[in-house]
Amino acid sequence: MAIRGNWEQRRVEAVSRMGEIDRRKFMALTGSSAAALIFGYAPFTEKVWAQPSFSGYPFKLGVASGDPEPDGGVLWTRLAPEPLADNGFGGMPRDRAVEVRWEVAKDEGFRRMVREGTTMARPRLGHSVHVEVSGLLPNREYFYRFRAGNATSPVGRTKTAPAPGTSLAEMSFAFVSCQQYEHGYYTAYRRMAEEDLDLVVHLGDYIYEYGPNEYRAPGGNVRVHEGGETTTLAAYRRRHAQYRSDRDLRAAHAAFPFIVTWDDHEVENNYADEIPETGQSPEAFLERRANAYQAYYENMPLRRSSVPQGPDMLLYRRLAYGDLAEFNVLDTRQYRDDQAAGDGNDPPNPEQQDPSRTLTGDEQERWLLDGLASSGATWNVLAQQVFFAQRDFQVGAGQLFSMDAWDGYIGSRERISNFILERDVPNPVVLSGDVHNNWACDLKADYDDQTSETFGVEFVGTSVTSGGDGADTSTGQQATVAENPHIKFFNGQRGYVRCTLTPETWRADYRVVPYVSQPGAPVYTRASFVTQAGNPGLVPVEENPVQGTRNSSTAIESDAERAEAQREADLKQR
Ligand SMILES: [Fe+2]
Repeated sequence: MAIRGNWEQRRVEAVSRMGEIDRRKFMALTGSSAAALIFGYAPFTEKVWAQPSFSGYPFKLGVASGDPEPDGGVLWTRLAPEPLADNGFGGMPRDRAVEVRWEVAKDEGFRRMVREGTTMARPRLGHSVHVEVSGLLPNREYFYRFRAGNATSPVGRTKTAPAPGTSLAEMSFAFVSCQQYEHGYYTAYRRMAEEDLDLVVHLGDYIYEYGPNEYRAPGGNVRVHEGGETTTLAAYRRRHAQYRSDRDLRAAHAAFPFIVTWDDHEVENNYADEIPETGQSPEAFLERRANAYQAYYENMPLRRSSVPQGPDMLLYRRLAYGDLAEFNVLDTRQYRDDQAAGDGNDPPNPEQQDPSRTLTGDEQERWLLDGLASSGATWNVLAQQVFFAQRDFQVGAGQLFSMDAWDGYIGSRERISNFILERDVPNPVVLSGDVHNNWACDLKADYDDQTSETFGVEFVGTSVTSGGDGADTSTGQQATVAENPHIKFFNGQRGYVRCTLTPETWRADYRVVPYVSQPGAPVYTRASFVTQAGNPGLVPVEENPVQGTRNSSTAIESDAERAEAQREADLKQR
């Protein structure tokens, strides 16, 4: 995918405008020695381990690729012969760098090699490597692998984006979010890896920060987190390593390039910029955020432009896929104002409606609107974390909204919605995660006036595991659908959403698995919706009856239950 514009310039500008403030604050708070350690200002003392002999297979975390461009993409791995080692170095020496060879070929057997080279896996970045390969052909499949010492990595498959402006007949991708390891098995990833996709978009909650069994699924947990609540760099590294120990997750990474962004649990539940949920000093929280961001960067196939600078990391970015789609990948955590009204489900309130409050930060909002204004793509995608459309939980008179979602930041939502309406931005599609259930919505000019203009659609994807098995629906969730006429669909099972785009239509298939409490579930399409280019709004295509589970169950983790379970988990930590 082509990253448009002068990326380095944007990075410098973004960091100098937003980052410096936090960084100065952080340096003042933590002292320069901690800052030097985290920012890497300390002298470069590592030696090279010339002929490494690892204590085990060093590629246990697998391989990944990401952010495809027409001429290449990011190839990732992280050396970790003992992934859960206490010190966070995965069984690698903490003072030695290791040379890693990388190879890209047209075939899985690596007979037709097209690019190769070497890079260093450095202890400062947890012996991760992020190769930005270029010189590949657009819209092509490639295979890649790594070598270190005598070991060879598993083979990954990736695919480059079409050349800029190319007229593309079709593309398909899946999006996912929320993979609490303890809540179930990653069967959805196994089934996804069996599909034919161009790429995968991850919308956040890749890991959860909780200690063992602090956050319980309604049906109970089936796996257990290693180590306590994550706050240190070593602990976040180990948590990422534990999640990658799941072979189905590794299979999905090896099968498709990923475009990733985070939500809150990569750091801490419901944090907002530098404000922790509760019970931590600003100093401790910023240090924690720096640790979490660093471990996230180390473990994701991201570009150098996302290398963290202490507690700051530039993650929002734009990727184009021919003339068919432009993905605006948002970060709705790092720059947001604190949640209104103490962060819960609340009735309309002045803080929520205060137009000066922001979910994206001013800089990212300007960047998004500029991108939407200049896009030439048929489909303009906002790949982001939290529920965008209005969602009133209060059945009957009165209204109740989630203060953590766009409903808690009315000014932000209205600025973006009004811009799309005024500029006639074609075919906006919002992709969301966070809520551990499937939803589908029309986007309205005014949600309280259902005769107002529909200007786009939102697909909210369920979790991979968070919330446990779940069930199809419940009377409570159906009441919420009825209360909000622009919301067309609810389902409470686990899975992913597969999207197929053509110049005329966008089809979303809600792919669900009947259970995650045991491995090996089948997958099926619970419902499909289409939206037509130039004619905003959802058109239901088909709904399929639930297979292999009950139609209606209270085992669905509702929003209130999710919030309560996470609040209880937070209390257990203290
Ligand atoms: Fe989540």
